[in-house]
Amino acid sequence: PLRQRLLVVANRLPVSAVRKGEDSWSLEMSAGGLVSALLGVKEFEARWIGWAGVNVPDEVGQKALTKALGEKRCIPVFLDEEIVHRYYNGYCNNILWPLFHYLGLPQEDRLATTRSFQSQFEAYKKANQMFADVVHQHYEEGDVVWCHDYHLMFLPKCLKERNNNMKVGWFLHTPFPSSEIHRTLPSRSDLLRSVLAADLVGFHTYDYARHFVSACTRILGLEGTPEGVEDQGRLTRVAAFPIGIDSDRFIRALELPKVQGHINELKERFAGRKVMLGVDRLDMIKGIPQKILAFEKFLEEYPSWCDKVVLLQIAVPTRTDVPEYQKLTSQVHEIVGRINGRFGTLTAVPIHHLMCISAGNFKRLAGLRFIAEKGGRDRSLDFFALCALYAVTDVALVTSLRDGMNLVSYEFVACQDLKKGVLILSEFAGAAQSLGAGAILVNPWNITEVADSIRQALTMTPEEREKRHQHNFVHVTTHTAQEWAETFVSELNDTVIEAQLRT
Ligand code: UDP
Ligand code: G6P
Repeated sequence: PLRQRLLVVANRLPVSAVRKGEDSWSLEMSAGGLVSALLGVKEFEARWIGWAGVNVPDEVGQKALTKALGEKRCIPVFLDEEIVHRYYNGYCNNILWPLFHYLGLPQEDRLATTRSFQSQFEAYKKANQMFADVVHQHYEEGDVVWCHDYHLMFLPKCLKERNNNMKVGWFLHTPFPSSEIHRTLPSRSDLLRSVLAADLVGFHTYDYARHFVSACTRILGLEGTPEGVEDQGRLTRVAAFPIGIDSDRFIRALELPKVQGHINELKERFAGRKVMLGVDRLDMIKGIPQKILAFEKFLEEYPSWCDKVVLLQIAVPTRTDVPEYQKLTSQVHEIVGRINGRFGTLTAVPIHHLMCISAGNFKRLAGLRFIAEKGGRDRSLDFFALCALYAVTDVALVTSLRDGMNLVSYEFVACQDLKKGVLILSEFAGAAQSLGAGAILVNPWNITEVADSIRQALTMTPEEREKRHQHNFVHVTTHTAQEWAETFVSELNDTVIEAQLRT
C-alpha cells in the first residue's frame, strides 16, 4: 500500500536557514527534543511545515529558501520580525513556556508582560492563522495533519474551521500544568477550545493528559470521560503517548571510526578523572544553576574528589532575544567562574562550561567540534561529538525543574551499553516515569540531596550499575520515536473512523 501522507506542522523546522547571499542559503540542523524525535519518524510520506528561524523580507530570498527547503521536504512559513517578536519571543516563550513549566511570569517585567498580553495574544492567533494558510495550500484529501507544541494551540481550530473533514492531531511536547496554573492565563478558555477542535490530543505522560482534561472540565465546564473530553456529543480524544528516541542511530554511531576517534581523545584528555556530563539548552527549566551549585556542594562535602572528577556542561544557546534567557546566561557564567576560581588548580578546573569557548580553543580543549552558526555566536555540538561525550561519561546529570520528557537522558542511556554509567535524573522530568527505576531520582531544588546522589553515583558497585543500566537500556531501545509516531497516527486514524461511525 502507499505510505500515508503526513503533514507535520511545528513552529521549528528540523533545519534552520542561514543566509549566504541574495539567493543562496545554507541549512543546519535545529536543536531541541521536538526536532530530534520527529527525525525518527520514517514510516510516513512526511512533509514538514514550519518556520526556518530567519526573517526573509524579500521575494528573491523567499523563493530561493523555499526551493532549498523543498529538497528536505520542508515547507516554510514566513513570519516577519514584528510577529516573531510578539508571537515567538513574547507569547510563546515569555508567557506560555514559563507558565507550562510552573515558573510563573518573569518576576521583573510582570506588569509590563501583563499589559502587553493582549497584543501578544493577537500576534499568536495571527501567526497560527499563517501556519494554517500554508497547511491548506499543501493539504490533499486523506492527509493526516499533525500539529505540534505550545506554539500552535490555535492551529487545530483554524484548520477545522475551513475543512471539518481534515484529520487533525495535536501533541504537546511540554508539561501541561495543573488546571490551577492554567486558570491564570487570560486566554485560558480560547486556548483550550481551539485545542479541542482536534480529533486527537496527545501528551507525554498520563499526568499531563489528566491536567488538560481537568482544565477543560473546571474552566470550560465540559464533561471529562476516560476517552477524553466531550462537548455536546462531540468527543475529543485525549491520551498519553510517551515519546522516545531513534536509539539505533546512537548505537550505530558509536561504531564509526570518527566517533571512536573522539572517544579516545576524550579518554586521554580526562584520564584519571571521572566524567560527569550535562547537556541542555540554556533554558531556565533545565535547572543549570541548581546543578552547578549541587556540584559545588559535592566538592565542598567530599574534597578528596576535587581533582578526580570533572563536570562537562554543554549549554546550547536558545531564544537569545528573550531577556530571561540573557539573564540566565550571565548567571551561569558567574557561578561557573566563581566555582572554578574556588576549586581550580594550575592544571585543572572542575567545571567545563562549553558554550562560551571559541571553536579553536575548544578543539584543543576536548578534541570536539562545534557547529558555529553565522558570526560564530551560537554553537551546537555536532551529533558524533555528542555521541562520544555520552559514551565516555560516568555520571549524567539531568536536573530539570520541569521538563516535558527530556530526551538527553534517553540518549545518554542509549550510548552507555559498554560503560554502564549512572543517570541522576530530576523527578520533575517526564522521563522520571520511564527511567525512574534505573536512575537515581532527585529533587533538583535540594542541592544537598543532589550532592549526595553524585557521591552515590560515583561510588556505585559495578553490579548495581549494570542492573540499573539494563533497566533503562531496555526501555530506551523498545520505546522508540518511530513507534511513538506510528501509535499516535494510527490512533488518530482510528479516532476519526469511530467518530464517523457514531454520527
Ligand atoms: N542537542 C542538540 N544540539 C546540541 C546538544 C543537544 O541538538 O548541541 C539535542 C539533544 O541531542 C536532544 C535535544 O537537543 O535530542 C534536547 O532534547 P530534550 O528533550 O532533552 O530537551 P529540549 O531541548 O527539547 O527542551
Ligand atoms: C523544546 C520545545 C520545542 C522547541 C525546542 C527548541 O523542545 O518543546 O518546540 O523547538 O525546545 O526551542 P526553539 O525555541 O529554539 O525552537
